[in-house]
Amino acid sequence: MAILEARNIGKTYGGVVALKEAGIHVEAGTVHALLGENGAGKSTLIKIMSGAVTPDRGSLTLNGRQVRFRNTGDAAQHGVAVVSQELNLFPDLDILANLYPVTGPRRGPFLDRTGMAQAAAPVLDQLGLNVPVRTRLGDLSLAQRQLVEIARALLTKPRVLILDEPTSALEQASADRLLNVVRVLCEHQVGVVFVSHILEEVMALSDVITVLRNGEVVMEAQDRKSLSMPEVVAAMLGDKTVQAQEKPTLVAPQETAGGELRIVDAGSRGALSGVSLTVRPGEILGLAGLAGSGHQATLELVAGLRRADTGEVRLPSGRRAPNGLRRSIAAGVAVVSGDRRRFGLMLDKPIWENIAQVRAVALGRDGAFLRRTALRARARDHGERMSLRCSSVDQRTGLLSGGNQQKVVLAKWLDAEPSVLLLDDPTRGVDVGAKAEMHTLIRSATQAGTVTMLCSTDVEELASLCDRVAVFYRGKIAAILEGETLTQHTILELMNTGES
Ligand SMILES: Nc1ncnc2c1ncn2[C@@H]1O[C@H](COP(=O)(O)OP(=O)(O)OP(=O)(O)O)[C@@H](O)[C@H]1O
Ligand SMILES: [Mg+2]
Repeated sequence: MAILEARNIGKTYGGVVALKEAGIHVEAGTVHALLGENGAGKSTLIKIMSGAVTPDRGSLTLNGRQVRFRNTGDAAQHGVAVVSQELNLFPDLDILANLYPVTGPRRGPFLDRTGMAQAAAPVLDQLGLNVPVRTRLGDLSLAQRQLVEIARALLTKPRVLILDEPTSALEQASADRLLNVVRVLCEHQVGVVFVSHILEEVMALSDVITVLRNGEVVMEAQDRKSLSMPEVVAAMLGDKTVQAQEKPTLVAPQETAGGELRIVDAGSRGALSGVSLTVRPGEILGLAGLAGSGHQATLELVAGLRRADTGEVRLPSGRRAPNGLRRSIAAGVAVVSGDRRRFGLMLDKPIWENIAQVRAVALGRDGAFLRRTALRARARDHGERMSLRCSSVDQRTGLLSGGNQQKVVLAKWLDAEPSVLLLDDPTRGVDVGAKAEMHTLIRSATQAGTVTMLCSTDVEELASLCDRVAVFYRGKIAAILEGETLTQHTILELMNTGES
């Protein structure tokens, strides 16, 4: 019998149908993958199962009895824990306070911080989060914050654990550790719901698969062993197909395009030393490495988010890269980050304003001349090219699904027609179909003469999208791969050992 079951669930927001008729049942000791395109309704179903959202229709049963959770705290008390896609943490509190948001162990009237830390230690250890628990949450990386949110769910000792894209911010080693934790929980008869756009992971971890399309179940609890990856993708996309991915050969930059981006012997204390790179317009250069090995620091250097203590960075214009993100943007640098909470979207503003923001507002380009209707039309055009799922470009951006918010981030930077395009996990949380479309847009922006640099936790993305990949190891470039040598295998080997 299912521990938790959602049946005939319907949910509409304003005019937007998030779920038409959906359900899922969670069995003890089973990993149930919940898949679907961006906007298919996965997070909505999860929010309903965990008490965050009330459905319009349908029922929820826990151990055979009908339930109605008042909120996520109530669900947690009934043994249903959720790790949400958009993290729900308090940036000003430390890790420990975030781990016990409502009730922690007490000693008399006081919270027992020592007891809390002792209880949390094995869980944090298991997840590989080796940071003092007094660290302020706002000082952690996105991946570390993700692990805190997972640890918090585990500490409630749930019978049902619902994970909404838990690995999308993690690099391979952390993701593997988490997947192992999930396996152990399953052995202890916990029921797991797992949402991910990383299909290899889904195929390796899950026991059964349910697919949603447009708010309806199109594949219900199928045995994963009976399914192939193409069958799963076909169920997700329906009659749409994924565009073929082929890497175009490097074209000569257009005559009007600027010069190269040059990093000359750059060093930054504790993060980088002796890094030299030249990136041509029309080229996508990948930057790979384990966390803290220098690839992200290099991207930050070009973005003006980090100072070079030695050496220099020259933009395609020949000017030195300025300090500070604002000045970098004015100098034609775009920064697309997968961490959309931190960099980037005005969630309470309409989609079109977000897309127009850099070009019209920050750069003041055509702002004074173009009317709203024209900006809206541009936004619609971008939206169509990346199959943005929204009711209109006037919709509030915060109401979009996670993957669709990410498409808005890319659209707003491409709209600014930058000369340097910096991408930091640009397709985090984006579904297979839309990812291919975003890749196509990144390629065509690059071919028009942009210098593009890409950091990604997705090694497959690095290998398939980039013309060359610089692999970093302990603050230095271990090798630059291109042509035949540019494979996922060599990237991984170099990232982990510094040698291939
Ligand atoms: N609070 C809300 N108000 C209005 N519309 C909403 C709201 N929450 C979700 N939606 C809409 O409901 C649909 C389903 O969204 P949901 O977040 O469930 O998708 P998802 O499958 O989780 O997608 P992703 O893979 O991108 O995370 C989307 O069209 C989304 O825009
Ligand atoms: Mg979602």
